[in-house]
Amino acid sequence: MPQIPRDERKTVDADVGIIGAGPAGLMLAHLLRRSGLRVVAIDHRGAEEIHRTHRAGILEHESVRMLAEPDLGSRVLTDGHLHDGIDLRFGRRSHRIDFQELVGESVWLYPQNEVFWDLARAAEHHRMDVRYGVADASAFDVATDHPGIRFTDSDGSAREIRCRYVVGADGSKSATRGLIPREIRRDYFAEYPFAWFGILAETPPSAPELIYAQSPRGFALISQRSDTVQRLYFQCDPATDPADWSQDQIWEELQARIDGPDGMTLRRGPIIESTVLKFRSFVCDPMRYHRLYLAGDAAHTVPPTGAKGLNLALADVRVLAPALIRAVRDGDETLLGEYSETALSRVWKAQNFSYWMTTMLHTAPGETEFATARRLGELRAVTESPHGRAYLAEQYTGWPFHPTVS
Ligand code: PHB
Repeated sequence: MPQIPRDERKTVDADVGIIGAGPAGLMLAHLLRRSGLRVVAIDHRGAEEIHRTHRAGILEHESVRMLAEPDLGSRVLTDGHLHDGIDLRFGRRSHRIDFQELVGESVWLYPQNEVFWDLARAAEHHRMDVRYGVADASAFDVATDHPGIRFTDSDGSAREIRCRYVVGADGSKSATRGLIPREIRRDYFAEYPFAWFGILAETPPSAPELIYAQSPRGFALISQRSDTVQRLYFQCDPATDPADWSQDQIWEELQARIDGPDGMTLRRGPIIESTVLKFRSFVCDPMRYHRLYLAGDAAHTVPPTGAKGLNLALADVRVLAPALIRAVRDGDETLLGEYSETALSRVWKAQNFSYWMTTMLHTAPGETEFATARRLGELRAVTESPHGRAYLAEQYTGWPFHPTVS
C-alpha cells in the first residue's frame, strides 16, 4: 500500500489519537474525519499483515449500513452476499431459521479482512494520517486534559501525538487497557474447554446459507468466503495441532458431522489454510478512564459462534464517534460519560448470545448423557417454535442501535 506523505515534525497535533488501525480504529477514524476532526491512527502491524488476518465473515445489517457509505467504497454491497437465514442442523437434519420471515432482517457474508481493506483504502483515498508498522506505542497522561501517544515510526524516528482524547483499539492483547487502574477496572473472563479447527478451501460453497451443525462427534460450521472459497470449522480439542491432520481426515471429519438421510455432501477441494482458534469470553468494565476510551477487542472478546466480534467493534465506534465529536466541537462530555455503559449494554447481550449459541451447539468433553439430551431438547425448543426462532433471528441479525445514536 503506498505511503501517505509524512509530516516531518516529531510531534503531531490531533483531536483524537487512535492506537490500533484494524477495523474498529479505522472505522472510528472515518466517522471522525467526516465531521472534520483531526485524527491520527497507528498500528504496530503492517497493512498487509492485518489484511491476511482471517476472522469471521458475517455482518449484521447495522454494520453493513455503516460500511455501505459511498466514501468507504460500498464494496460490501457489490461483493458481499446477502443471507436471509441459517440452518441449524441436529438429529441429522436441517432446521432453517428464516431471518426475513421472522424479524424482517438479513445479514451479509463479507469477510473481516475485506472490511479492513475497504477502510484502509478509503483512508488512503481521503489522505488520512494512518501509520502502520510503528513500534513501542504507548499512551501517556490519559488522566489529564492533554494526553498523548509516543511511538517509533516505521522509519525509526521517535514521534509523539498530542491529542485531546486517546482511543485504544489495539485488539484483545491491548496494552492501553492496562492504563485503566486495577482498582477501578473489572475484568470478566470465561474459558471454554474446546476450540475450532478452521480451514479455507478452494471450492465453491457447499450450501447457499451457513450451516451450524450439532452432531455426536461435536459441532461443525459450514460457511463461505466467496464463489470459489469456502470457510469451514469443526470443534476440536484446544491442544490440536493442525499439522497432525491430513486433508482427507479433515474432510472426513467435517462430512461425518453433517451426514444425514438428506444426503448432504460437502464439496471438497484443496485446503489452503488451517488454524486452531481458541475460545474465550472477556469483558473489561469500564471501557473508559478519563481521556482514554477502549473500543472493539481491546475491551471485549467473544467466542466466534455467531460472529459477533467485528459487529460489536463497529457498534462501539458508532456510539463513541458522536460522543467524541460533541466533546471536541462543543466541549460537552455528556455523551462520552455515557459511552461505557451504552457500549457495555450491547456487549453483554452479545456475550450472552455467543455463550448461548456456543454451549447449545458444542459437546463439552466428558459431557453426560443428560447434558447431551438436554441440549437437543433446547435445540428443538428453539427451532419448533416461531418465538424461539425469532429470538435467535433477532440476536443473530443484531439489535438496533441505542436511541440516542442517529
Ligand atoms: C465465518 O465465516 O468465519 C463465520 C461465520 C459465522 C460464524 C463464525 C464464523 O458464526
